[in-house]
Amino acid sequence: MSDTVNNKAENVPAASAKRRVLSGMRPTGKLHLGNYVGALQNWVGLQNEYECFFFVADWHALTTDYADPSAVKTNSIEVASDWLAAGLDPERSVLFIQSHVPQHAELHLLFSMITPLGWLERVPSYKEQQTQLAEKNLGTYGFLGYPLLQAADILMYLADFVPVGQDQVAHVELTREVARRFNQFYWGPSKTRSGRLLRGADVPEAKRAYVFPEPQPLLTPAAKLPGTDGRKMSKSYGNFINLSDPEPVVRQKLKTMVTDPARVRRTDPGNPDVCPVGDLHKIFSNQQTLANVYEGCRTAGIGCIECKGWVADNIMAVLAPIQERRRPFEQNPKLAWDVLEAGSARARVVAQQTIERTREAMSISHIYEAPGGSK
Ligand code: TRP
Ligand code: SF4
Repeated sequence: MSDTVNNKAENVPAASAKRRVLSGMRPTGKLHLGNYVGALQNWVGLQNEYECFFFVADWHALTTDYADPSAVKTNSIEVASDWLAAGLDPERSVLFIQSHVPQHAELHLLFSMITPLGWLERVPSYKEQQTQLAEKNLGTYGFLGYPLLQAADILMYLADFVPVGQDQVAHVELTREVARRFNQFYWGPSKTRSGRLLRGADVPEAKRAYVFPEPQPLLTPAAKLPGTDGRKMSKSYGNFINLSDPEPVVRQKLKTMVTDPARVRRTDPGNPDVCPVGDLHKIFSNQQTLANVYEGCRTAGIGCIECKGWVADNIMAVLAPIQERRRPFEQNPKLAWDVLEAGSARARVVAQQTIERTREAMSISHIYEAPGGSK
């Protein structure tokens, strides 16, 4: 144990140079328990260890919702309210809106110059989403560029880690490829050694050999959270419990939740391992309750109503403090908006630095160069 601590002290820079985390969420509206367990709860914890940037990906929402963007802004406020309620702390983390940091668009454009179409066409979500959302025309330029915009989001802040679910890993991988390609073209070690691009250097050459570090995905431990119909909890399935659902609504939704189909009658034994309610217990209940569920279910000693009541109690124990903290933002949604505005201003400062470096690397900085290439 103390060895680890010592190694850490030697290898890790001072506290002010914490490693950086960045992640984003599309503004889908009020967040549900699946969003919390699958991402948000993890983000809240990361704030203790990392310098964090979290943003609402409203431009990404437009890639699919361009025909009717009327909900994007209110959804962004709902998402931010849930973030703050869940414990994202604007003092420690930069919470912002993507479209309020227009530098993301410039970086996306510059990356578009070097990104082969094939890289984007073969990202799995591209074809998948087109099939899944067949009612929308996703044969657009913007939708094809979705993962490249995401690469710009990530590389803009030179993020070390990107907390995401399994479904986003391919996007982080593309981000790494874009970073590598950019670095090879514009700012690889050979180029800096030749003396090019050293103007205005305020840090030693070795430290700026590459513009973009390659980020790592930080896989969120995937607790599979079932919705009321037993499928993965998802906004589009309509099987969700929102973080902001009042207690009676939570209890009512759980009452309708599917159970082990073997328990047709109260006297039939069941198996929590094949029951979605059992899965919820595994996430929200302590060992003692879980033991009571296994015992009671397998022996038909408890009924499903009782079992669901227990899980409702434990879910409410998580939700009650979140709902308490959410109240001020419900009474005055502008509070959440103001947090995002202030965070966007902080994000723009960092983003602008990256843009300056990128422009310089691509030889389009605003620094004057005499014709003929001499300095
Ligand atoms: N594509 C992500 C999602 O659907 C959202 C997102 C946009 C994102 N930009 C990002 C996530 C950058 C991490 C980093 O969940
Ligand atoms: Fe599921 Fe609980 Fe009913 Fe067992 S008792 S089938 S775990 S709801």
